[in-house]
Order: sequence, then C-alpha cells, then structure tokens
Amino acid sequence: MTLDEIKAIVRTVPDFPKPGILFRDVTTLVGNGPGFAAAVELMAERARAVGAEAIAGIEARGFIFGAAIASRLGLGFVSVRKPGKLPVPVLAIDYALEYGTDTLEVDPEAVAEGQHVVLVDDLLATGGTALAAVELLRRAGARVDHALFAIDLFELGGGERLKRAGVAADGLLAFE
Ligand code: PRP
Ligand code: ADE
Repeated sequence: MTLDEIKAIVRTVPDFPKPGILFRDVTTLVGNGPGFAAAVELMAERARAVGAEAIAGIEARGFIFGAAIASRLGLGFVSVRKPGKLPVPVLAIDYALEYGTDTLEVDPEAVAEGQHVVLVDDLLATGGTALAAVELLRRAGARVDHALFAIDLFELGGGERLKRAGVAADGLLAFE
C-alpha cells in the first residue's frame, strides 16, 4: 500500500471539536486492517532504523500506534498517561493543546537510565503534547531524540519545535 493510499483512509471532520478545526481522524485508519498494518509496519521500520530500545506512546491514540509498533519490534512499551491513572508516584507535566490544556504523567521507573526511547503518537499538531512527553521521559532518564507520528499537521510547526528541543520528528502522512 502506498503512502497516498494510507493517507486516503484518514477521515477529515470539519469543525470538531470546535469551529475552524479540521479534525484528522485516525479512527478510520486503525479500523482498516491493511491500512493500519501498513502504517504500523512503515513506522516500525523507521523506529528500528534509528535504534529504538523502547517505544513510548502518549494516551490515548498514541497507545494504539505505539503498542503495535513496540510489539512488531519485540520492544517494551512505555505508557505516557493522562493524569491520575498510574498507581505509583509519578513525574508530571502540564502542557498546552491546540485546544485547551492537559497534564501528562509517567512512571519514573518505566525507563532505564540512558535507554534510547522513541516517542510515538498518532498526530503532531503544535508539538506541545510531544514536547511535554519528551521532557517527562528525559526526566525519567531516557535518551529521546526521535519521535514518530502517523500524521504531521506540518503547518502548525510542531516539527520545528521538536527539532529545537533536539528531537527529530518523523511524520508518516503530511496533512495541511
Ligand atoms: C491529540 C493527539 C496528540 C495531540 C497533538 O491528542 O493525539 O496527542 O493532540 O496536539 P499538539 O501537537 O498540538 O500537542 P488529544 O489531547 O486530543 O488526546 P487523545 O489522544 O486522548 O484523544
Ligand atoms: N489533535 C490536535 N489537533 C488535531 C487535529 N487538527 N486533528 C486531529 N487531532 C488533533
């Protein structure tokens, strides 16, 4: 399956969750067996190529891609969670979204000191979520210099923000 064919499976919903937002909905991609498998395979190849030792995914949609990629590569999966979910003392960080604010948490024992962790999420917009996750994983001792996304909304500048933080952002599908 070509990248254009995978891209065509992503549904675009105007004015969700508020007027003016063009929502790129991966529900249709993960619901399409061949499309999801192709996306996961291509992202897993990229994670393997940069020497990933573990895959971290951001709740919720980043778990879908991240866990599939980790399993494909035989690597462990690190959960970057929304607040109040982890049953242990956590590292936490607040961050700004394209629409609103939120908090991410990680178990400080989820990564080994110096472990090369590749971050995965479904979609890169402003980069605020991914930057917060990178900061948390680094505080936990991980080396984080690559992040993979199924979708890059490149006009929102997330890739440049990540680059300034020393993270190479790699989006499988570019959307305006
Ligand atoms: C979406 C998406 C990314 C983030 C991208 O998650 O899955 O994690 O926004 O936006 P940013 O680059 O501007 O930070 P959302 O917070 O909607 O959570 P969900 O996955 O739980 O739906
Ligand atoms: N998360 C942040 N911005 C988004 C968008 N435009 N489409 C889908 N998910 C998003």
